[in-house]
Amino acid sequence: MSATNRRLLGLAGLGAAFLLAGCWERPPIESVQRGFRGTGMVHVANPRLEAAKFAANQAPESSPRIEVEPNAPLAKDVYKNVKVLGDLDVGNFTRLMAAMTQWVAPEQGCNYCHKDGNFEDESLYTKHVARRMLQMTQTVNSKWQNHVGATGVTCYTCHRGQPVPSRIWFKDGEGLEGGVFAGWRYGQNAPAKSVGLSSLPKEPFSAYLLGNGEIRVGSAKVLPSDHVASIQHTEWTYALMMHFSDSLGVNCTFCHNTHNFATWDGSPPTRAVAWHGIRMVRALNNEYLEPLGPTYPKTALGPAGDAPKAYCATCHKGLNKPLYGAAMAKNYPELLGPIPVAVRQAPAAAAAAPPTGLLGKILFAVGKNELSGEAMQTIDAAAKALVAHPQVKVAISGYADKTGNAAKNLELAKARAFAVRDALKAAGVAEDRLLMKKPEFVIGGAEADARRVEINVAE
Ligand code: HEC
Ligand code: HEC
Ligand code: HEC
Ligand code: HEC
Repeated sequence: MSATNRRLLGLAGLGAAFLLAGCWERPPIESVQRGFRGTGMVHVANPRLEAAKFAANQAPESSPRIEVEPNAPLAKDVYKNVKVLGDLDVGNFTRLMAAMTQWVAPEQGCNYCHKDGNFEDESLYTKHVARRMLQMTQTVNSKWQNHVGATGVTCYTCHRGQPVPSRIWFKDGEGLEGGVFAGWRYGQNAPAKSVGLSSLPKEPFSAYLLGNGEIRVGSAKVLPSDHVASIQHTEWTYALMMHFSDSLGVNCTFCHNTHNFATWDGSPPTRAVAWHGIRMVRALNNEYLEPLGPTYPKTALGPAGDAPKAYCATCHKGLNKPLYGAAMAKNYPELLGPIPVAVRQAPAAAAAAPPTGLLGKILFAVGKNELSGEAMQTIDAAAKALVAHPQVKVAISGYADKTGNAAKNLELAKARAFAVRDALKAAGVAEDRLLMKKPEFVIGGAEADARRVEINVAE
């Protein structure tokens, strides 16, 4: 090697060292195992960065709800232009207005949505947007419990004290916190925060979070005629996945067993929650946010003239559960669904008899603790009954037989019971309602029935 070459190599090495220094995080790094040993299913975190996140993601205190007489006046009896909150009593209506101000426009105050303190006036666009936002929030909490569970959302989940939430997107990816780029590059090679600073296309969202594009890299079909998985879709899929990871502050193994990204067997239950999340975000963008375009002033629109839209980061902001799963929404029952439903929901649910006895029996394959599609259906049905009856607790019991290695079988029964518990949690049932029983042996042969987990209503 010539001296010049060696010098060049040395310089390159120095450059690499500088580059690496930029990526390197000072230890300690903590890791938590989230899947089978040897599958690399670990969550890696840096406590220093976590501490900063913790401080930035605290839910504000909720003021106490106002106790009202059954015949207290309702907003619709007293006010002029109430189209969403009409059936709410006046005391709690005012309480919600104060909370909305704190969540969305603390600096601007009531006049952000109300012109000069004239509350019935309808001339500000912000009031029209806010009315639609109220309905959107009710929809999230009532129709998308398979994603938001009992935790739910309030305006604060997205807004955090800002009229315009952080982390929103427009078509074409302009304004997506990306670098400057010249020419048409599919929005690529301009590292954007929206896709975790990767050089993947920075706007896969029109295809997947507005459109119903197939999120797929491998085609299930042989013939090119209906071959949905093009190179472009593959790039968009990976870009979307980078967005998921970045939004939730997790790596790919949070939702995938990386020996095979496509298969659902062996994917943790979080992937199913994410699947529902994709459908939820599509619905919010199509039914609420995109149609608000004509309501906004031009300056609020994107370069393509489209309305601002939501993606995973809009709620999650770097955490796997927004605001660390703080259940703010339950303090504002009027945000849990269209008001007549929300306010009367508790008695109506009580009217349908609460479940009793065996709520579900989940069978497993020999030596496995993975949940089959059928198992997921059983668990979903049980979860629905539990979400409708928040007072009911259940016992989760794993069973095993004594064939082969009895001690191993008990371990497996335990792992299966935990898999069922995790799926119920993912479906929105709070952990303190799920009582774990010691695994037991069943007498008899190695029939499928022995390899089961039961969900029973606890006495
Ligand atoms: C983020 C926007 C927003 C903020 C901030 C806000 N409001 Fe409202 N307000 C609304 C919306 C939307 C409605 C209509 C609700 C409906 O249609 O059910 C409304 C309606 C009202 C009404 C009923 C007026 C009528 O006669 O129709 C009153 C009173 C009111 N707000 C008071 C307040 C007060 C007091 C504050 C400050 C503490 C406040 N609002 C802050 C959005 C807002
Ligand atoms: C899923 C996230 C989400 C939730 C929940 C949410 N918002 Fe929004 N909000 C948005 C997005 C996205 C925009 C568009 C941002 C923009 O205006 O540029 C927006 C815009 C607004 C605006 C217009 C701001 C402006 O100046 O252009 C108001 C007012 C508003 N929201 C009020 C509310 C209220 C009140 C609630 C609760 C009842 C609420 N939002 C709940 C996502 C959300
Ligand atoms: C928050 C959960 C979540 C995270 C994190 C996540 N994914 Fe995904 N991934 C999903 C879901 C859900 C689907 C299926 C989407 C659908 O079918 O609508 C999917 C689909 C995929 C597919 C397509 C599989 C096929 O059928 O062709 C690939 C590849 C993939 N993910 C890779 C990754 C990679 C690489 C990462 C890390 C950068 C990652 N994922 C992070 C939830 C996640
Ligand atoms: C409207 C706000 C909102 C949006 C938008 C949203 N999520 Fe969520 N997500 C939540 C809430 C709230 C929870 C907590 C649910 C709970 O406590 O059970 C959650 C939970 C999750 C979980 C389970 C986390 C765990 O630790 O069990 C995953 C995975 C997830 N979201 C993925 C996504 C993905 C992927 C997207 C975008 C396609 C998305 N979310 C968009 C509100 C949202």
